[in-house]
Amino acid sequence: MSGDLSPQAMLPQDRAKQAAADAAAAIVEDGMLVGLGSGTTLRRFVRSLGLRVGQGLRITGVPTSESTRALAVELGISVADLNDVSELDLVLDGADEIDPQGQMIKGGGGNLLWEKIVATAGQRFVAVIDESKPVAHLGKFPLPVEVVRFGWRSTERQIRGLFVESGFLEPAMTLRGGEASPFVTDGGHYILDCALGEITHPEPLAIALDRIAGVVENGLFIDIARSAIIGKPDGTVETVTYD
Ligand code: 5RP
Repeated sequence: MSGDLSPQAMLPQDRAKQAAADAAAAIVEDGMLVGLGSGTTLRRFVRSLGLRVGQGLRITGVPTSESTRALAVELGISVADLNDVSELDLVLDGADEIDPQGQMIKGGGGNLLWEKIVATAGQRFVAVIDESKPVAHLGKFPLPVEVVRFGWRSTERQIRGLFVESGFLEPAMTLRGGEASPFVTDGGHYILDCALGEITHPEPLAIALDRIAGVVENGLFIDIARSAIIGKPDGTVETVTYD
């Protein structure tokens, strides 16, 4: 897979992801309880962390997906269930978009529910991203909304109604994976990808979405990120903090 290629052979975006992943692994301290996010950047991070664990770093990771758990175990990183630990010291995860206030869209990889549970169980959340992820306004990336399978078409109609009421005139909503073989999350739910265009008021939209019966979680991560490590293709990183 591309994560195993030498830097010279990688695509520029992969080099940027690797730079962010390596810098993120460097901020993990001995003894920490660490939330391990999901996605391609986080897989690079987990591999970098695995190297540090191989050199003697002692940490416990709490994964946000079955795939991250499997990778961490394969690399010899000690993992725990969220139920069996106290507050996490640090949570590292990717993002699909992040605005200047640190508000994010997540869930492109399909793990938004578990990611948000872990993200809000930590003292400090750091977004680990490449330079394509910061945006002036959220919404170019379709907003993932995780819904219960039972009655999902009814839930979809209510979500559409909310979008229209909120001023999104033609929301395009698609069931991830398609109706013939829908994508099912680790939590056993479907995802509706909602192309809205610019989201000027993400917080009220997130609250209103969560009020709809059948919505398990939405991909707006509000007031969660404390900082972001932004990787560049030349191997450098920039760290941005949010108030
Ligand atoms: C998974 C996520 C990911 O963090 C997000 O999609 C970013 O992924 P990548 O690092 O592959 O760009 O939210 O549900």
